[in-house]
Amino acid sequence: MLETVRGPRQLIVGEGVAQNIPRVVAESGSRVLIVTDRVLLDQPGVAEIVAAVRERVEVVAVFSEATPDVPLTDVDRAVSVAAEVDADVTLAIGGGTVIDLAKIVGVIRRHGGTPRDYYGEAKVPGPTIPLVAVPTTSGTGSELTPVSVLTDPDRELKVGVSSVHIVPDFAIVDPELTYTCPTTVTAHSGIDAFCHAVESYTARPRAHGPRDPVEQVFLGRNRVTDHYALLAAERIARSLPRAVRDGGDTEARADMSYGSMLAGIAFSHAGTGAPHALQYPIGAATHTPHGLGVGLLLPYALDAARDAIGDRLAVLARVCGLDVTDASEAEATDAFLTWLDGFLAEIGIPPTLADIGVARADLPRFAQMASGVTRLIQNHPGPNDTASLTAILEAAWTGDRII
Ligand SMILES: NC(=O)c1ccc[n+]([C@@H]2O[C@H](COP(=O)([O-])OP(=O)(O)OC[C@H]3O[C@@H](n4cnc5c(N)ncnc54)[C@H](O)[C@@H]3O)[C@@H](O)[C@H]2O)c1
Ligand SMILES: [Fe+2]
Repeated sequence: MLETVRGPRQLIVGEGVAQNIPRVVAESGSRVLIVTDRVLLDQPGVAEIVAAVRERVEVVAVFSEATPDVPLTDVDRAVSVAAEVDADVTLAIGGGTVIDLAKIVGVIRRHGGTPRDYYGEAKVPGPTIPLVAVPTTSGTGSELTPVSVLTDPDRELKVGVSSVHIVPDFAIVDPELTYTCPTTVTAHSGIDAFCHAVESYTARPRAHGPRDPVEQVFLGRNRVTDHYALLAAERIARSLPRAVRDGGDTEARADMSYGSMLAGIAFSHAGTGAPHALQYPIGAATHTPHGLGVGLLLPYALDAARDAIGDRLAVLARVCGLDVTDASEAEATDAFLTWLDGFLAEIGIPPTLADIGVARADLPRFAQMASGVTRLIQNHPGPNDTASLTAILEAAWTGDRII
């Protein structure tokens, strides 16, 4: 038995909790860099938070030029703005993009260098300036994860900085801030959260030595991650289609905020698996959103591993609300995968890679690239050699599965 739990010093979730932001920021520093984006700064809720922080904190700089997927040029510019005011605390208000940007800015402010110095696992040498993370999507879970995902123009794939030192100090998760999310952002960020839950729950368990929880970031599934993954899957399964259909459904929005946060706790420790690794090259080639890609790939990756995880897919079937009381494990697995197809279709995720413009001839190359993302691929519970990954992509391209 070897487990570890990491997370923010304080995690606050619920409607209205955003009103704590000015106090939490003021207690963490006196010169704040607020990171957000243009769309969000125009939202009344976010503008109000910025105004309230200005009343409590001596020096406030706002970087609102964050653009999707954290290009390195955004990092340079945000670091310069932070330096101008000598920021000693960062407040990130936004989706995964904004929070990931704030994480790497905090690293560079404290430790210098460039993002490239920190690519990979456990390369950040120590704590950063305090980060208060406020998600406006549900979501990546970035408000509590040890991960920042960046886009480097010199690399074909996105790059990750993973370190316990970039777990935000405070996560303030207020569902009200997600009410303005447009339909596609709700669908794509929501299915990303569902993938975090399911990929964690089905991640391959691994044997560990006592130093691994400090030297490695992702450790495979364990009993703690299972618990959070199932709580997350249940909430997201019952509420994501509702939130997509009606963005004003406050009950569904609350479930999604809570669910994405729980999924974040699960994958912060277990890690994600093949859908995430395979989405990296596919997202880079097609410029499609992260959530759309991982959601599309999920049923094919699970199907390819069904022999290893039938018992787990049967549990997921029950947790996601299917009546499988009298079903055999194989029947429950089939029921779950069939339900998943309908779930994805309902929120507008295309069924095949051909639908999003992937060229079939590229599939072996994409599988090769994904197989290099060892920290994720080693979590895939089925065969994970390059030929098996190519087979998953082939199935996802044609739409063929075993059932
Ligand atoms: N750090 C992690 O642990 C982690 C995990 C998964 C994904 N990611 C990364 O996160 C990024 C995706 O994040 P995301 O899905 O949250 O989307 P995002 O942050 O890229 O935002 C997508 C769009 O939605 C808009 N938006 C966000 N909140 C809104 C709101 N409340 N109202 C109106 N518009 C809003 C943004 O302005 C943006 O245009 C990717 O780069 C992905 O690789 C990180
Ligand atoms: Fe993700």
